[in-house]
Amino acid sequence: DPTPARIDDQSKAEDLSVNTVQPGATLTDNLGHGVTDDNNSLRGGERGPTLLEDFLLREKISHFDHERIPERVVHARGAGAHGYFVLEKSLAEYTYARVLTEVGVNTPLFTRFSTVAGSRGAADTARDVRGFAVKMYTSEGNWDIVGNNIPVFFIQDAIKFPDLIHSVKPEPHNEIPQGASAHDTFYDFISLTPESMHMLMWVHSDRAIPRSFDMMDGFGIHTFRLINKAGDVHLVKFHFKAVLGAHSLVWDEAQKIAGKDSDFHRRNMWETIDAGGTLEWEFGVQVFTEAQAAKWDFDVIDPTKLVPEDLVPVQRVGRMVLNRNPDNYFAETEQVAFMPTNIVPGIDFSNDPLLQGRLFSYLDTQLSRLGSPNWVELPINRPLAPVHNNQRDGHMRQTINTGRVSYFPNTLGGAQEAKAGVNGYVSYPERLSGVKQRARAKSFADHYGQARLFWNSVTPVEREHITKSLAFELSNCTVRDIRVRMLDQLEQIHPVLASQVAVVIGEAPRSKNAVMPGAGQDSAAEVALLGTA
Ligand code: HEM
Repeated sequence: DPTPARIDDQSKAEDLSVNTVQPGATLTDNLGHGVTDDNNSLRGGERGPTLLEDFLLREKISHFDHERIPERVVHARGAGAHGYFVLEKSLAEYTYARVLTEVGVNTPLFTRFSTVAGSRGAADTARDVRGFAVKMYTSEGNWDIVGNNIPVFFIQDAIKFPDLIHSVKPEPHNEIPQGASAHDTFYDFISLTPESMHMLMWVHSDRAIPRSFDMMDGFGIHTFRLINKAGDVHLVKFHFKAVLGAHSLVWDEAQKIAGKDSDFHRRNMWETIDAGGTLEWEFGVQVFTEAQAAKWDFDVIDPTKLVPEDLVPVQRVGRMVLNRNPDNYFAETEQVAFMPTNIVPGIDFSNDPLLQGRLFSYLDTQLSRLGSPNWVELPINRPLAPVHNNQRDGHMRQTINTGRVSYFPNTLGGAQEAKAGVNGYVSYPERLSGVKQRARAKSFADHYGQARLFWNSVTPVEREHITKSLAFELSNCTVRDIRVRMLDQLEQIHPVLASQVAVVIGEAPRSKNAVMPGAGQDSAAEVALLGTA
């Protein structure tokens, strides 16, 4: 490309072109007229009516009236920071993506962490999944990894996402409960959705109450593809491993902090960076082949499954560092728009049906949240890579495109197509065949194997936390049928788990002798505590 992007630590900071008011600068309205009195509106007489001609009053009030935009339909509460990604080991064996082959280049990025269920003003420490969304401004266009701090997801198919979210959000008639706790509706849905059991175990583990943003791992979740120069394809999972390690609050702490400092996580990140510190993760990949994946007893395009690290270790190949706070929360953290479709040459999607639905949803939602197809021009969203195309006009267009060519093909001076393998995106030429149908793949059928693997892999202390968390939630479900259905689901994961929860919530153990020695000994006290929580 004749105008390649400059990619280094400073390049995005400069591109944002912030407007800094110098101390003592002259106050103006939005159109540059000096304002001599910002305290008094223009009135007819000292005690008379306010005059319609007061353009300063009208402009100021009117702008204020329109300050809010809709919050995100999910992940509404979040905080972000700028930083960079640096590759330490080339993945050229697997991909030709520059960002994964050019060792030592600092690719600028913006990362936003979020909770999923709460509204924009909810507490940071709610028990919930955390969004972990990274936007890298690479020389080949933006690459977004829109992940979570949990490596799997609740559902296998995007068509169920609106139902999942409607069940976890406050009930539509009274907007209760806020935050991710104690829902009849959520457990009604989940108890009828066995595929969610693996994710549910993670959500009731300590991973769902992280101590800080930089004490949680991030996962791209879906399987993606990497394609190398020779055209060979490998499958890949993306990982961010917290340099500080993954640490959690305990539930009691999390609840108290929510009351005393609902900004606990965002404050911690802000203050760390403000004091000159950084938040850091190692970036890693699990790379495997279709042939390897074919031998496993789960499907790698089923997003409710992870690839165990003892099958494929995570190779740590780079680092993500967050080192700069935003200048303006709204312009950066609120207006940033992540999309799984932001991908660069050498990386491609898989046929994971959850990912496939996401590829539609994010672009679509930005049209109502940010209000115009020109949201891509917002400083936080625009790429550092040059943009030349024939898209024109639309609400709030910022770019002034010159010339008379806004079509392709053209001979009068317009943009020409990029070259495959040089500077253009090429989809992996996967061979497709099959019958058009609405059906779940047979390979997606096991819903409990990895949930059990999770239960078996955690320490006794963590098991106790999972039991208590489930018991807390279920004891707050008002419908007995739902509680019982949930116990039946837990029984499929592990009889000990089901029985322990049953005892705490006052139901009969599910199977005889399933209660672990010592478990449930505090159950009377716990039940009393849970009753008042
Ligand atoms: C927002 C992750 C599944 C629709 C987000 C955000 C994250 C995320 C991190 C917040 C981005 C930000 O900070 O601005 C995930 C993960 C998923 C998943 C990891 C599963 C593996 C889905 C599905 C859909 C969906 C299946 C729809 C079919 C949305 C929408 C938003 C969102 C509409 C709001 C975006 C915005 O307003 O900017 N998701 N999500 N997500 N997600 Fe997902």
